[in-house]
Amino acid sequence: MITPLIAANWKMNLTEDKAASWCKSFITSLPARALKYVVIAPPYTLIKTVQENLISTPIIISAQNCHWEEKGAFTGEISPVHLKDLKICWTIIGHSERRHILKEDQEIVNKRLKGSLKNGLKVIYCIGEKLEERKEGKTLDVLKEQLKVLEEVKEYEKNIVIAYEPVWAIGTGIVAKEDEIKEAHREIKKFYPSIPVLYGGSVNEENIREIMEIEEVDGVLVGGASLDPEKFSKIVEYSLKTKGVL
Ligand code: PGA
Repeated sequence: MITPLIAANWKMNLTEDKAASWCKSFITSLPARALKYVVIAPPYTLIKTVQENLISTPIIISAQNCHWEEKGAFTGEISPVHLKDLKICWTIIGHSERRHILKEDQEIVNKRLKGSLKNGLKVIYCIGEKLEERKEGKTLDVLKEQLKVLEEVKEYEKNIVIAYEPVWAIGTGIVAKEDEIKEAHREIKKFYPSIPVLYGGSVNEENIREIMEIEEVDGVLVGGASLDPEKFSKIVEYSLKTKGVL
């Protein structure tokens, strides 16, 4: 797995024209050798547009979620077969918004994770504690619980990236402190030393250097700030420079 990885999660944002101009502006703002470290996760409906506009680049395109079955009566869902049909080889699984707003419990998340991996997809597996869990001192227990499923997919370890995203830091403008990020990433790496661990939660072009300076951080998953190609390009540039690959 190539690192550092700088991933853009567009969530339920942008439209065809905006996605196309985002891609054009983004790829001209960075040296070509920087682009292989970038992942973009657009909404399903924009995948083709993004592919067309990034065709000449090594940028990885990812889905934001994936069902565990290959096909069937699952209205509104997209299967690993659908993604592979579009030549998409990556998906995010277990994002905090899926868990907490769309009420996907750990059992559903586990099925999605296993189904995606068994169908050959690479997965950005998101974990993270809620504010009350942190306040109650339960952060590491919550992370361990969310990581348990990885024991069942050991043979796919090289296809997994973990994103540590404290729920209270996502979209709030509050970034976890250095020691909080370190503690969580160290704990994850204690169990899975060969899996890259990204940080996510209010990452922007101003705080990226501090975050990437943390040795245990192998990249970032960026929401809000990834919608602006100039900001995201700075995030990529500063990340790669901080990690010494640009
Ligand atoms: P944010 O989102 O950067 O807007 O906080 C991160 C994420 O949800 O992955």
